[in-house]
Amino acid sequence: MRAYGIFPSALLVSTALAIGQKPTVNFDGNGMELASSGSSVQIMCEQDDWPAVLRVCDDLAIDFGRVTGTNGSVTLLEHGSGPAMNASMIYNITGRYSFSMSSNGQEGGVIIAGTIGQSAIIDRLVRNGKIDVGAIEGTWEACISAVVETPMEGVAQAMVVAGSDRRGTIYGMYSVSEQIGVSPWYYFADSPPQKHDTIHATDTTVVQGSPSIKYRGFFLNDEAPALTGYIMAKFPPSPWGPGYNADFYHSVFELLLRLRANYLWPAQWNSMFNVDDPRSQPLADEYGVVMGTSHTEPMMRATKEWQVFGDGDWQYNTNNESIYPFFVEGAERAKPYEGVLTMGMRGEGDTALEAGDEVDVLESVVAAQTEILNELWGNVSVRNPDVVPQMWCLYKEVQGYYEAGMQVPDYITLLWTDDNWGNIRRLPLNSETDRIGGAGVYYHFDYKTWEQMHLAYERQARQIWIVNVGDLKPLELPISHFMDLAYDISLWHKNSVPRWLHMWAAREFGLDVAAQTAELMNNYSIAAGRRKYELIDPSTFSIIDYNEAERLLNEWETMHAAAKSIMDSLPAETHPSFFEMVYHPVTAGYVYYDIMISVAKNNLYAQQGRNSANALAEHVLAKFKQDNQLSHRYNTLLDGKWAHMMDQTHFGYVYWQQPMRRRCRACST
Ligand SMILES: *[C@@H]1O[C@H](CO)[C@@H](O)[C@H](O)[C@H]1NC(C)=O
Ligand SMILES: *[C@@H]1O[C@H](CO)[C@@H](O)[C@H](O)[C@H]1NC(C)=O
Ligand SMILES: *[C@@H]1O[C@H](CO)[C@@H](O)[C@H](O)[C@H]1NC(C)=O
Ligand SMILES: *[C@@H]1O[C@H](CO)[C@@H](O)[C@H](O)[C@H]1NC(C)=O
Ligand SMILES: *[C@@H]1O[C@H](CO)[C@@H](O)[C@H](O)[C@H]1NC(C)=O
Ligand SMILES: *[C@@H]1O[C@H](CO)[C@@H](O)[C@H](O)[C@H]1NC(C)=O
Repeated sequence: MRAYGIFPSALLVSTALAIGQKPTVNFDGNGMELASSGSSVQIMCEQDDWPAVLRVCDDLAIDFGRVTGTNGSVTLLEHGSGPAMNASMIYNITGRYSFSMSSNGQEGGVIIAGTIGQSAIIDRLVRNGKIDVGAIEGTWEACISAVVETPMEGVAQAMVVAGSDRRGTIYGMYSVSEQIGVSPWYYFADSPPQKHDTIHATDTTVVQGSPSIKYRGFFLNDEAPALTGYIMAKFPPSPWGPGYNADFYHSVFELLLRLRANYLWPAQWNSMFNVDDPRSQPLADEYGVVMGTSHTEPMMRATKEWQVFGDGDWQYNTNNESIYPFFVEGAERAKPYEGVLTMGMRGEGDTALEAGDEVDVLESVVAAQTEILNELWGNVSVRNPDVVPQMWCLYKEVQGYYEAGMQVPDYITLLWTDDNWGNIRRLPLNSETDRIGGAGVYYHFDYKTWEQMHLAYERQARQIWIVNVGDLKPLELPISHFMDLAYDISLWHKNSVPRWLHMWAAREFGLDVAAQTAELMNNYSIAAGRRKYELIDPSTFSIIDYNEAERLLNEWETMHAAAKSIMDSLPAETHPSFFEMVYHPVTAGYVYYDIMISVAKNNLYAQQGRNSANALAEHVLAKFKQDNQLSHRYNTLLDGKWAHMMDQTHFGYVYWQQPMRRRCRACST
């Protein structure tokens, strides 16, 4: 286990920062110059490397441009012998990938990036003893970064990034992006890239081992009206179909990889990832993202697929003749790609199965699914979770069946879940920790993320961590935190949250405001986590005893004042990201608490016949309007880049509106 003190406070003031990553570049002029505002980094990779790796070479070249103003160039080597320019992306959705980018500056330093066993130049460096990959070879998603002398003819020195597999190489390159100042959130939360005049590769060798958790990702869920409204506005009907298509998903895949995650459960309320746009699944694979389906969607088929293509009831005991081939088609379609198959079955939608003997039925469902996979993959590999990863989510009633003795083959990963209040209901017992498929967790965010996920890790739930992120925005901060824990939990001990917040704030908004922003978001997460907003109404906090309501409102007022003062101190280019990730959540929370507490006071004062009840009623109306304006401001930010993203209703109208009318009657009598 690595020492917790790995980030001395000096690192926080050093400029190169990637959360949870040891620095390999600096802005102090130490080591080999990679790039400056006048010279461009040259990125070399091998034509035979994974398309996912080649794509990120291109991203990295542009990330340098974001920081120094001079794009890097990408050179594609053919078996290490010289440039070749014929690699192609099957789905070049952005129309940007060139792999032969010429730069707009003088030639600067060289980065050679590649995957062991796939990249001839990397393999040659290993054979010639120029880099030692012994620590990572054959491991999952690991990477080595080193500065190497004369890596090839005509190149005096290069920074070499060698991955044990395609995502290992990708994480190594994106670590450089993050360190030089491009946040994983540069697109999805508009974090402005930092600006630097020169970037140097530090003369150091850094080994980044395998992640703590094998499959780490998120689930886009409950995605209407906000995310779906945004999607419908931004991705109108195209030859590929409207909505949740590859034109949207490619940026989600990129975000996942930049967050050092690898796994996605796509939106499914009214969409079919594999059907709506036939580019989506091959694109995920081209990016190197592992696809899954939600806990309730077996054999890689979306719920809606049964509604559209299914025949008869979704009841295995009465309709196996239709459901079996439906499963076969899902497995056949999934076979060419990296994915984790959901096993078992639940009722229609997100409900319990209804059959006489659910346990018997479920066992026969899994037996049938296993037979199908056997048929497609061959028996041996099906029992090997490295070849055909399978998962069974013990959600709600399914956990009950398991506890009642339902048999689950031991190569299927058991996915434990929380109780929708952020408490994981159960974790592997000692007798369950040596299952080949291991265990994982399906989590819904709560304030206790560190505590619960640390518990899960210690109890050996390390195969899959998937978190439900709703509409994706505005959960940027908890998503980052979750993925950093999943990537290397040894770095984050129980008092690490303020330190993590400091690094996060420095990355997103700059060091000048990092300490204040971290304190604010620490307070905010406590305040917002105290009780879910939807469970707060005017009767929740006492307006009589112990100044409870006033104390809370004062806390929110302090937080709001801090958010405003930090935002005012930031350069204009940082306003959108700060607004989205800090100012908006803090202010919306403040307004919400103010309304609930003011309604409570209004009620009491009206009963007491006090005229001040009227002023409170006016105040509540003004705050309600402010809430509306705040959502509007979010939805129209940056010319409506995030249109509809704040369309979710904030108020249980029944709770606040009804009392208002009663109070007004009370006032006038
Ligand atoms: C870098 O390349 C991208 C993609 O081709 C382009 O949009 C951008 O303008 C370039 N940046 C600079 C600084 O030349
Ligand atoms: C790329 O080049 C190789 C070798 O020169 C050739 O065999 C291959 O067909 C080319 N691929 C494309 C897509 O042009
Ligand atoms: C990607 O599309 C652009 C624009 O159509 C094209 O110039 C470029 O060559 C394509 N890249 C690849 C690798 O196919
Ligand atoms: C469906 O179930 C019946 C009764 O158990 C069985 O005889 C039949 O083979 C099953 N069909 C399929 C396609 O699994
Ligand atoms: C594969 O598994 C099936 C049952 O799942 C079994 O009938 C068959 O004999 C197995 N084949 C081999 C080659 O092990
Ligand atoms: C955060 O909470 C601490 C402790 O309650 C308090 O002293 C501080 O003023 C708060 N800061 C902000 C910005 O809310």
